Amino acid sequence: MATLPGRRARLSSPGTSRLSSEAREELRRRLQGLIEDNRVMIFSKSYCPHSTRVKELFSSLGVEYNILELDQVGKWNDDGASVQEVLSEITNQKTVPNIFVNKVHLGGCDRTFQAHQSGLLQKLLQKESTYDYDLIVIGGGSGGLACAQEAAILGKKVMVLDFVVPSPQGTSWGLGGTCVNVGCIPKKLMHQAALLGQALKDSRKFGWEYNQQVKHNWEIMTEAIQNHIGSLNWSYGLSLREKSVAYVNSYGEFVERHKIKATNRKGQETYYTAAKFVIATGARPRYLGIQGDKEYCITSDDLFSLPYCPGKTLVVGASYVALECAGFLAGIGLDVTVMVRSVLLRGFDQEMAEKVGSYMEQHGVKFLRKFIPVMVQQLEKGSPGKLKIVAKSTEGPETIEGVYNTVLLAVGREPSTRKIGLEKIGVKVSEKSGKIPVNDIEQTNVPYVYAVGDVLEGKLELTPVAIQAGKLLARRLFGGHSEKCSYINVPTTVFTPLEYGCCGLSEEKAIEIHKKENLEVYHTLFWPLEWTVAGRDNNTCYAKIICNKVDNNRVVGFHILGPNAGEVTQGFAAAMKCGLTKQLLDGTIGIHPTCGIHHFGDNKVIGTGHHPERLLRLGLLLSGLPVYSHSFQR
Ligand SMILES: Cc1cc2nc3c(=O)[nH]c(=O)nc-3n(C[C@H](O)[C@H](O)[C@H](O)COP(=O)(O)OP(=O)(O)OC[C@H]3O[C@@H](n4cnc5c(N)ncnc54)[C@H](O)[C@@H]3O)c2cc1C
Ligand SMILES: NC(=O)c1ccc[n+]([C@@H]2O[C@H](COP(=O)([O-])OP(=O)(O)OC[C@H]3O[C@@H](n4cnc5c(N)ncnc54)[C@H](OP(=O)(O)O)[C@@H]3O)[C@@H](O)[C@H]2O)c1
Repeated sequence: MATLPGRRARLSSPGTSRLSSEAREELRRRLQGLIEDNRVMIFSKSYCPHSTRVKELFSSLGVEYNILELDQVGKWNDDGASVQEVLSEITNQKTVPNIFVNKVHLGGCDRTFQAHQSGLLQKLLQKESTYDYDLIVIGGGSGGLACAQEAAILGKKVMVLDFVVPSPQGTSWGLGGTCVNVGCIPKKLMHQAALLGQALKDSRKFGWEYNQQVKHNWEIMTEAIQNHIGSLNWSYGLSLREKSVAYVNSYGEFVERHKIKATNRKGQETYYTAAKFVIATGARPRYLGIQGDKEYCITSDDLFSLPYCPGKTLVVGASYVALECAGFLAGIGLDVTVMVRSVLLRGFDQEMAEKVGSYMEQHGVKFLRKFIPVMVQQLEKGSPGKLKIVAKSTEGPETIEGVYNTVLLAVGREPSTRKIGLEKIGVKVSEKSGKIPVNDIEQTNVPYVYAVGDVLEGKLELTPVAIQAGKLLARRLFGGHSEKCSYINVPTTVFTPLEYGCCGLSEEKAIEIHKKENLEVYHTLFWPLEWTVAGRDNNTCYAKIICNKVDNNRVVGFHILGPNAGEVTQGFAAAMKCGLTKQLLDGTIGIHPTCGIHHFGDNKVIGTGHHPERLLRLGLLLSGLPVYSHSFQR
């Protein structure tokens, strides 16, 4: 019989032989995870002849087994002595090999051979899984669907539960989660609607003549976008069916270990069990908790399918969702005001964030800075109606009032973790954020429960991140892979009227991590060729790289403001993953004429009093050329 190689198990907690009680608890949890998650789990030492005999026994039986070699765990930052210590607490056995079959502790080498002779081992091995499913995923959004489909491709029996609790305004949607229904997809399409409006204006300069008055029709746009979303919902359902994933349109909630309750729209309850669970329930928009907000305000959950044009709109909040929505609403011709509590785009490079804001301001968006709403009152019903907002200053006693047709709250998102029975099975949730802490293999403190996507504490809330984490998790759980999801240097783009793409560190974060004296920032203003004939803003598009001088001028941050920033940033992200340096960038021949900035100047130091913008204007005057290459170092 061919020898089946044993799969090596990995522990990933930092180890120490003098364990603190917290580290001991964490290690115990991980060991229990290995015991629960593997049909045959052998804790062994690579040089131990008894361990070798046991491995040979399982190989001769044709049984796949998982091994943790205690003399080699150091390689993965664990301390074998600590593992052995905690293992002996669990099993009362200090020696290796230490063997578990279907979660039952068999003992060492002699006991295993005795069990083989008595037939006990064969009985234990025959014990079929008593669960309905190998994996149940709660949440059919970006992360959940990716994980479920991958697990099914790997031959597992998988169920996905997806259920949308209607928004306070009564909006709900189909399969696919936030991105498809109320996030990236409708947002980008509405952004496109706004860009087309700008293109229409530009087109006259390029010779297009039209007499009709140009105006935007909200209903037509929304219907077309919703039709597209409908087709995506349908294709997700089809894809699950093709992969034999059981899809249940019910609300999932843990009721006891390995068991959930699924409640459908009619209130019918069904119970399901699984060996493993993935929580991928995402997040929903937060409300302010002020008078009138849930009754009269909308959120991004309602906006993209709003059956009427929102009219004069107040957007509350100043991050991704707020600025993107404000941007496209203004772009289709609406009167838009953004109420900012503190800064724009918190966590992003603040120089870039301010430039995003000032471009919006120049293009008609009004900003009310350092104010927060305290009351929303309905003045008139209608589609849209009229709302009065009272807001107070964050800096003093001043209060202001305004009347708007629509108030869009974009003040962050609340993870959907508080009402899914996590307390019943002991999954830890951060009290403050409601998010779920996981280790570097997306495992919660309960070994058979994992989590991906927006519910994760301290991770990025982005679709491709959720997808990557979900897919890799399934491959590790069921495919024998070991690749972990890397959350470093993830590129992102804010689809504001002037798009902002970035990857890596903001200047602020780079200074915090690498210190100012070790950094060099190279930057460039550029004027897209397409904007020149159209007579659009020059001195506006801007890009910079932040380099670490003590590490070969490695690019640790990339930032760009300009058309198609997402497309440009994508390539830079790949380059940064490969260790991009300033020298490599300088040695890369670019594509002309594009905005895919490749040239960040030749170490031109800004002289005192020379603001880069002024230098650029001078450069333009002298050269008479559209500028891609005026670059400054500071
Ligand atoms: C307006 C907006 C724009 C965005 N734009 C972008 C963008 O351009 N690019 C980008 O990368 N990211 C963007 N995002 C973020 C992106 O949408 C999320 O990061 C991503 O959808 C998270 O995926 P997820 O799988 O964690 O959760 P989700 O996609 O939210 O899926 C969770 C699913 O679980 C369901 N659910 C919740 N509780 C239960 C339960 N108990 N039982 C059953 N089902 C349940 C939910 O209804 C939902 O369908 C945007 C978000 C918003 C709000
Ligand atoms: N293009 C994309 O990829 C994209 C687009 C949209 C969303 N997303 C993802 O979705 C996540 C959520 O985005 P988000 O914009 O909803 O949330 P967010 O990043 O958490 O920002 C919340 C915003 O609301 C403000 N705010 C919070 N409480 C407030 C209050 N009581 N009164 C007034 N303002 C308040 C915050 O101001 P302070 O700064 O003062 O706290 C901040 O500006 C993002 O982290 C992102 O990952 C991605």
